[in-house]
Amino acid sequence: MNAPEPRPFERLETADGSSTLLHPLFKEAYSSVHGALTQARRLYLELTRTHLHPKPRVLEIGFGLGVNLRVTLESALSRGVRLEYLGYEFAPVERALLESVEVPLGEVARGVWAQVLERWPGASRSLEPLRLLGEWGSLEIRFEDVTKAQFPRAWATAIYLDPFSPAVNPEPWSLEVMRKLHRTARPGAWLATYSVAGSVRRNLTQAGFEVERVPGVGKKAWLRASRSRSG
Ligand SMILES: C[S@@+](CC[C@H](N)C(=O)[O-])C[C@H]1O[C@@H](n2cnc3c(N)ncnc32)[C@H](O)[C@@H]1O
Repeated sequence: MNAPEPRPFERLETADGSSTLLHPLFKEAYSSVHGALTQARRLYLELTRTHLHPKPRVLEIGFGLGVNLRVTLESALSRGVRLEYLGYEFAPVERALLESVEVPLGEVARGVWAQVLERWPGASRSLEPLRLLGEWGSLEIRFEDVTKAQFPRAWATAIYLDPFSPAVNPEPWSLEVMRKLHRTARPGAWLATYSVAGSVRRNLTQAGFEVERVPGVGKKAWLRASRSRSG
């Protein structure tokens, strides 16, 4: 019997005119349909105050289509600060799909993104981390499952918690992962996520974060959490 044809990723136009993809198995979009770029900027970049940080170090759970990375890189470059970015991704999409979702970028960020595409794992699916270093900063994408991954200790100034939702993908939202995130957060670090599910708030709180609901865009609330400077 022939193997079933892989199902295509459906392209979606989002409310702010930017596009995203619908995952064929999880049946969820990679970014908010209320605005992929708006979500990257307002939720991840700004709620974590990464747009103001003089030396941002961002750890992202779910590299996905690299929208949050590109928006964050563009912001850092526009302010003349170096960005250090570490993303985790256990199911990298095909390079052509990454190319199909565009984000407005200046020349330097376009060059960095071109290098990401060039080194993106091909059919051989090498699981070696993808690493880039330049005057603009550094970037590393680890092709690992965050439930098993080790995160650097007291490293991140910001955490973008962006796997698919706890309803369809509960593992990366577990208490164990939240504890690892607390350990990787520097004192004073901020974490942002779109999910305000009770289990997510409880696990973050139990792991040691101070958690607050904040007004969302196209959604009643988003979640922001912080690691205290003393704890
Ligand atoms: C909502 S999308 C992320 C979108 C992305 N942040 C962007 O800016 O394009 C969720 C991503 O998390 C990844 N993911 C889900 N669970 C994961 C896990 N346990 N470990 C690593 N990556 C995971 C999925 O494969 C998917 O690419």
